[in-house]
Amino acid sequence: MANDKDASDVAALTHPADPVFCIRPAAAEKAARWFAANFPGDTFYAVKANPSPWLLRALHAAGVSKFEVASIAEVRLIRSLFRHAEIAFMHPVKSAEAIAEAYTEHSVRIFALDSDQELDKILAATNDADDLTLCLRHAVPNDAAKISLSRKFGARSDEAVALLQRMRQVADRLGVAFHVGSQTMAPAAFVNAIDIVEQTIVKAGVIVDVLDVGGGFPASYPGMTPPPLRSFIDAISARFDTMLVAENCALWCEPGRALCAEASSLIVRVEARKGDSLYVNEGVYGALFDAGHLNWPFPARRVGAQNGPAAVNAFELFGPTCDDLDHMPGPFYLPADIAVGDYLEIGVIGAYGVAMRTGFNGFAGYAEVVVEDGPMLTVFDDAAPMPANANETSHG
Ligand SMILES: Cc1ncc(COP(=O)(O)O)c(C=O)c1O
Repeated sequence: MANDKDASDVAALTHPADPVFCIRPAAAEKAARWFAANFPGDTFYAVKANPSPWLLRALHAAGVSKFEVASIAEVRLIRSLFRHAEIAFMHPVKSAEAIAEAYTEHSVRIFALDSDQELDKILAATNDADDLTLCLRHAVPNDAAKISLSRKFGARSDEAVALLQRMRQVADRLGVAFHVGSQTMAPAAFVNAIDIVEQTIVKAGVIVDVLDVGGGFPASYPGMTPPPLRSFIDAISARFDTMLVAENCALWCEPGRALCAEASSLIVRVEARKGDSLYVNEGVYGALFDAGHLNWPFPARRVGAQNGPAAVNAFELFGPTCDDLDHMPGPFYLPADIAVGDYLEIGVIGAYGVAMRTGFNGFAGYAEVVVEDGPMLTVFDDAAPMPANANETSHG
């Protein structure tokens, strides 16, 4: 893995034919330290957002020793990198084989579920283990999120009461988890979700050992500047403190996006220009999935030798595959004289970027280069308190 100062150096010096991820371990470490210093509980990194080993190592080096996973492949990945990491298997629908392997071979003890069926499955696959932390995934509104995660998973309150009572009988620790949706733009969404789960817990009359507020913490994108991250933590913290059922209850969160979005950007090359349409070598079947499928506005700029003052124009991008859907409407504001062979840097692509690559049409190649500049946009202001010894953590 090469090491360059910034994306302009990479483009100018190497003229890459394939997309290049500019990776910033320092940005990931900063995000991890921020959560360690500011979140008043335990932070589990949601591996699905970006499972790159360099990123996992950077987060771990900065103190993240707990990981939220969705699949047995993610369990194996984390266990292979960090022998002592705590792993929470929070996908509410798992295969029996995945549960059994996670429990018996990888010491996973934390499992999420949202149905009696899944509870039966977990108990059968672990031979009725008595050392499980079982987390009910509670349905909550995702209205303040740019990406809803409410359609597929989550027990409604009327389903959750009896399930929680049953879980309490078999769990060593009982948890309630929710997800307010990815890229949630309002701290009140977390408060509202805690209100809802608190009512269910009270109705069920159970003692809960863990409240897991999930992920959803936002990153900054053009036209999508969230309120300060600090205000999300303050809102969660204040509401948690007044929870009726919170005595001796642990507080967890599972950020994915917020811990990795700023940690990479992407260099793409313009292979054709037709008017205001630029044909580039990465697209919606690659790391730019959200730019096409969700019309997500990523920051973009020209980098490399041709970089210079020019009038700005609004462009749309097309990716490299032969599919019409491989289209990113933007608009991406770039120099008007942009031409074939120019390089663009697309920023804040660390979350759900490299993780979404498919290799469709054979466009699978890419490189990774460590760069030293900061992210194009950030939510981590330098004024936020950091723990003095955040780097002095043990490796698993
Ligand atoms: C269970 C669970 N936890 C955490 C996350 C991470 O969410 P985000 O990247 O929005 O923080 C997800 C995302 O899908 C999830 O499904």
